[in-house]
Amino acid sequence: MVRPEMPGRLPGEPDPHLYLSGVTVSFDGFRALNSLSLIIEKGELRTIIGPNGAGKTTMMDVITGKTRPDQGEVFYDGDHDLSKLDEATIANLGIGRKFQRPTVFENLTVYENLELAVKADRSTFATLRGLVTGEMRDTIDRLFETIGLSDRRHELAGALSHGQKQWLEIGMLLGQDAQLLLLDEPVAGMTDHETAATAELILRLAQERTLVVVEHDMEFVRNLGAKVTVLHEGSVLAEGSIDQVQANQRVIEVYLGR
Ligand SMILES: Nc1ncnc2c1ncn2[C@@H]1O[C@H](COP(=O)(O)OP(=O)(O)O)[C@@H](O)[C@H]1O
Ligand SMILES: [Mg+2]
Repeated sequence: MVRPEMPGRLPGEPDPHLYLSGVTVSFDGFRALNSLSLIIEKGELRTIIGPNGAGKTTMMDVITGKTRPDQGEVFYDGDHDLSKLDEATIANLGIGRKFQRPTVFENLTVYENLELAVKADRSTFATLRGLVTGEMRDTIDRLFETIGLSDRRHELAGALSHGQKQWLEIGMLLGQDAQLLLLDEPVAGMTDHETAATAELILRLAQERTLVVVEHDMEFVRNLGAKVTVLHEGSVLAEGSIDQVQANQRVIEVYLGR
């Protein structure tokens, strides 16, 4: 695989965790992604902003195998070409995605939701022999430490607030041992308090995982303090710190100044 010259990238630096190269996706001739190239380093927290229709969700669809690119390549963790793999295989490689609407099992307890996620990540063999019960409990306890909600563990997930359901769903991705987390508008519909708590959660997760967070809430994006990529018409319009992109004239024209 030939990588393009990366400005500011020294030889011998670690491989990118995710590398999109010239990805194009067309719907009836309309280019939702237009030769999109993007590199996410291992352990990086990246925020993605951009106007509605910029292609942010389509980008996540391509990474997770939901949509196949017409052109381009999507490399994960070395040489896995995600554009050739199906959704289940990609999930098993350690890529977890949170959609905008929470998708927890409302009729199960909070604990049972996490248990299902952790079980799904264990080998059937080990689960059948009952060898991992104690280990699984420890894992779930650690998940509760990360996402909170410990005091709600025996309530039905359906009784949680919108924000709490989002945290539970993030916990389920962690339970499946996702190493690259894709969060699509995680704080949409959250209260200010929940939004602040979500920023703290994401910053905790970022200490151990790679995260790509799509969000419109600029205060939230600023609080994450991460590198920002601005998507527009299916490709990268600008990239840099929040201060840099907010001062970028093109970004102001197409997005911030609306
Ligand atoms: N399955 C689809 N069929 C047709 N058009 C689509 C489909 N998915 C997305 N699009 C179009 O692609 C463009 C990018 O959409 P999307 O990725 O959802 O943008 P964003 O998440 O940045 O708001 C939009 O114009 C949208 O209407
Ligand atoms: Mg979207």
